Amino acid sequence: SSLESSPTQTALIGSHAKVPRSRVIPAPTTTPTVATEINARYLSSIQHNPRWRASGVLDSYVAQPAHPISLRQLVFFGGRNLDEKKIINSANYVRTELPLRIAHRIRDMQKLPYVVVTNRHLSEVYELYYKAFESFRKIPEIKSLEDNEKFCEIVKTALQEHLTVIPRLAMGVLECSDLVPSHELDRFMNVILRSRISRRVIAEQHLALTDTFNSPFHFPDSVSHQPHDFVPEVQIEGRLDTTFPYIPSHLEYIIGELLRNSIQATIDHHTPLSTSLPPIKVLICHTKEHIIFRVSDQGGGIPIAELAHLWSFAKGPRAASYLQNFSRVPKMAATLQELQKTAHTHSRRESMDTSLSRLTSRPPNLRLGMGLPMSRVYAEYWAGSLELHSLDGYGTDVFLQVSKLGNKCERLNLDGV
Ligand code: COI
Repeated sequence: SSLESSPTQTALIGSHAKVPRSRVIPAPTTTPTVATEINARYLSSIQHNPRWRASGVLDSYVAQPAHPISLRQLVFFGGRNLDEKKIINSANYVRTELPLRIAHRIRDMQKLPYVVVTNRHLSEVYELYYKAFESFRKIPEIKSLEDNEKFCEIVKTALQEHLTVIPRLAMGVLECSDLVPSHELDRFMNVILRSRISRRVIAEQHLALTDTFNSPFHFPDSVSHQPHDFVPEVQIEGRLDTTFPYIPSHLEYIIGELLRNSIQATIDHHTPLSTSLPPIKVLICHTKEHIIFRVSDQGGGIPIAELAHLWSFAKGPRAASYLQNFSRVPKMAATLQELQKTAHTHSRRESMDTSLSRLTSRPPNLRLGMGLPMSRVYAEYWAGSLELHSLDGYGTDVFLQVSKLGNKCERLNLDGV
């Protein structure tokens, strides 16, 4: 019957919500089907799944909203005198908040169109999330520092296990980009990435608190860049004395991506190389409430045809070249394993979000063209913004605005809540 499936179609969304063989609806083999229709078919298929019916636990978590927190609250959670009670409070916040935030994303994935859910990278992410949900929700209340030590070990293991989530999501979305409207995939990516940032932030911050590491952050020096023969100079101007609370790895990721783009564009635009390359200028200024970074290059600007998809995960400038090459699966898998292995050698403090910093120095075949949309997710996450103005034929100006006070709560969903 049309409900029969091939063995590959049963390799679905993991052991937790595997669709019974007899109920599996074959993935469309032809042109894109309207996503909502697939959604309805997919939902009706999982409603017959015994595990799904038994997952009232997930429903009860999904019924509760997350509890957003501001940078200021995060930084000062421990206050000046960090004591046992504060660490235990922080541990219990993370213990209860992680499964709640994960549950919402599991439900998002369950609602995805069938063709998306069957993608091997996305189903891998689904598996990881379900495992983490089950593990965290079962942890009993933390009552002592000893309990907290065990808890921190579980958190560290989960952070480690989730290092491949971003490249997997990116590859999964690219592989589905011809099957589902790109605005749906982009929305999904924006929500899931924000949520992931949020979980890693609260988890990392608790580990940091436990290490009695708690101080406001400063603008990282590592942004300044010495000129090199074939690399344009980066000139930093304006208010270099500015300090503000932020997560260093987030800022490093955004500024790193902007500079990488500017450097590449400058080199490409001025090839064959003339004797000197025009500098990239980074201006830092502030208002009462905001810090603004302007990164200006003379890399020729962005072609009008590329502007339309610049912020898209699914249709970004590199999508086509990834899809041409995506049959080279073993190579990708090896790269992901490498990513996970090398991360083991990094200490936790070095790796606030190791997967991202690893991606910053990622091998060329992991350049998935998601640097700009990902940077905007980071900027907006703490109620900031990222805008780009291209002067076609001349160069590009990018404006990053972040809150100076750190009093804005995480923006966990796209409606700004
Ligand atoms: C992630 O990195 O995707 C997470 O959800 C981390 C969390 C389980 C600590």
